[in-house]
Amino acid sequence: MEGPDGGAALPHLHDTGEGPPLLLLHAFPQDASMWDHQVAALSGRHRCLRPDAHGCGVSPPPPEGLRIDTWAERVLAALDAAGVGRVAVAGLSMGGYLAFALLRVAPERLAGLALLATRATADTDAVRADRGALAARLRAVGAPAVEELVESQPARLLGPVARGEYHIVDPVRGRIRRCSPEGLAALADLMADRPDSTPLLGSIGVPTLVLAGAEDGIAPVDEMRAMAAAIPGARFEAVAASGHLLCVERHAATSALLGEWLTTVRW
Ligand code: MLT
Repeated sequence: MEGPDGGAALPHLHDTGEGPPLLLLHAFPQDASMWDHQVAALSGRHRCLRPDAHGCGVSPPPPEGLRIDTWAERVLAALDAAGVGRVAVAGLSMGGYLAFALLRVAPERLAGLALLATRATADTDAVRADRGALAARLRAVGAPAVEELVESQPARLLGPVARGEYHIVDPVRGRIRRCSPEGLAALADLMADRPDSTPLLGSIGVPTLVLAGAEDGIAPVDEMRAMAAAIPGARFEAVAASGHLLCVERHAATSALLGEWLTTVRW
């Protein structure tokens, strides 16, 4: 199916379960299957919709010059095609950046918001430069550059306990291998280019849950707590013994907290 801009096909939406809809937005460089535990826990009560980012999982390649807000419009078009209107949105890290973009382009579509291990601020110049270098390497080298991420990312994404668990590490590596170099380069570019979402925080008027991993070096607890404090009525929780990928490292605790948040959402 063509996107709203008439360009590349829309992102693939994995669609599981029945009930009020829940949109689950994955991290970089992963795919929708990082939410498998939450879908197992929640799909008895909710229709769980999970897009793969362009170029990851089974989604088609990104259209030329994709930006975070046009990506959000493409996800909304995929939801339209699935007959989904208002939706509770949970995004982890890059998925949180995308959730902020949804809030920017179509706030009326969000019934609730869960922000996991993410940040509202834009990239610093240093991070932007690193992303530029990564995108250039992925485009120049191709598949071997993806394999470098397969080697390096588990130590970055996972806390000390999960890093030693092959049942967690191997799927993290497998998800990276399902991303194309072009897809990952486009995602690095659009993350670097994303605007500061801090001005949105005070206007969020839907039930909001903010979840941090107590051992996350990418989205540190104090920064997550401060972000939650800027969102009216938001609940903040730090999940013990977890790094960045809460949903796979402490999946039962993450699913339980999401389940509690969903009981407060009104579609
Ligand atoms: C992610 O987990 O999505 C990434 O760490 C996000 C980022 O690099 O900012």
